[in-house]
Amino acid sequence: MSHHRHSARTGRPFDPQTLMMGYGYDPFLSEGSVKPPVFLTSTFAFRNSAEGKRYFEWAYGLKERDPSRDPEMGLIYSRLNNPDLEILENRLACWEGAEQGLVFSSGMSAITTTLLSLVAPGQEIISTNPVYGGTDFYFEHICPRWNTPVHRVRAGTDAAAQVEKLLRERPGRVRLVYVESPSNPTNCMTDLAALREVIQRVGTPPEGQEILLVVDNTFLGPLFQQPLQCGADLSVYSATKFLGGHSDLVAGALLGSSRLLQEVGVYRTILGTMAEPFTCWLLLRSLETLSVRMEKQQETALHLARMLAAHPAVARVYYPGHLDEAQNAIWSRQCQGSGSLISFDVKGGEAEAFRVLDAVEICKLAVSLGGTESLVEHPSTMTHSDLDDETKAMAGIGPAMIRLSVGLEAVVDLEADLRGALDMLL
Ligand SMILES: Cc1ncc(COP(=O)(O)O)c(C=O)c1O
Repeated sequence: MSHHRHSARTGRPFDPQTLMMGYGYDPFLSEGSVKPPVFLTSTFAFRNSAEGKRYFEWAYGLKERDPSRDPEMGLIYSRLNNPDLEILENRLACWEGAEQGLVFSSGMSAITTTLLSLVAPGQEIISTNPVYGGTDFYFEHICPRWNTPVHRVRAGTDAAAQVEKLLRERPGRVRLVYVESPSNPTNCMTDLAALREVIQRVGTPPEGQEILLVVDNTFLGPLFQQPLQCGADLSVYSATKFLGGHSDLVAGALLGSSRLLQEVGVYRTILGTMAEPFTCWLLLRSLETLSVRMEKQQETALHLARMLAAHPAVARVYYPGHLDEAQNAIWSRQCQGSGSLISFDVKGGEAEAFRVLDAVEICKLAVSLGGTESLVEHPSTMTHSDLDDETKAMAGIGPAMIRLSVGLEAVVDLEADLRGALDMLL
């Protein structure tokens, strides 16, 4: 049983799916236990004072660890590191070929810790619109208090041109471009490679720094989209969604280079936004079935999207393959699958959307997504209710929109449930 990334016999790298069962955990450090135990401890004993001193120097970046000479970094205190946290971070990194991963107490703490650590007051952010409501709140209400202007551009086909214009107008000021693609809830695709190209070509970073491209990969990642392979510096996740996958935990994750994650990691230690050992253990368990769940959910979603597009009570479907030509083209270049989030407009407005939401019996009426159970919600009055009318209009979030997260129920039952509820509008 190997706990390494490559075969010891042949040197061949293992597939991420294989690595989810054992990578980064040596059973013989834990009594032969095949599964990692939950390390419910706040603190770890040092063998001697010199060892404790060394670990602190490395943890706070006071000294560089030389892997060719120095012993391994050790465990200190569960706000800095913990075996469940570290095994999880190593396994998560495999999915995007990242150097490193960091795991947080929520998607929001992953996003805010990242932005707080990498963007200094006075520097500026460009963000696509729409973004998840909590991220939007952070941009609109918290960033201004930290003297961090956030410029919003429409997500989608012309996002790169809008970013280019802003970068030309604001040399030396923009530190970070933040993208949610596909966007929540409209599945709007933004071309990440085009953004990277624009940043390289026209961006003038703040002195001594670079302009970072950060992507919220919650909707399709890590299976069906890998931003780090498309030129992004960082890929951020609400691990509450597909990574957790069972709607029984709240967590977040960040993938990227060791250099950037070291900076963010120091802030995570100080802000205390890391995930707890038991949450990490649950996530380790979830990662074993991640690809099986995401593939099956996608298969059902593809079927339901076709049914919805053909239903006479549905005005529009927002799902890859049902987007406009330019959007579908970005999707097919950038993604390896269409995922299992479908938004659709019913014919009519809020009253008609509510009739459908109140009529379904299998799909639960709840926010969140990516779990084993199907969920429906009304973005305009629920997840995205905080957005002002102008932002909602710009993002295309109307009163007739329903967001559906497709779970693992039998496709025949889901189809009958949705079709029956929609038929009531005819
Ligand atoms: C795209 C996206 N990003 C971030 C978040 C925030 O994650 P969390 O709820 O885990 O803090 C969410 C939550 O719904 C989300 O949908």
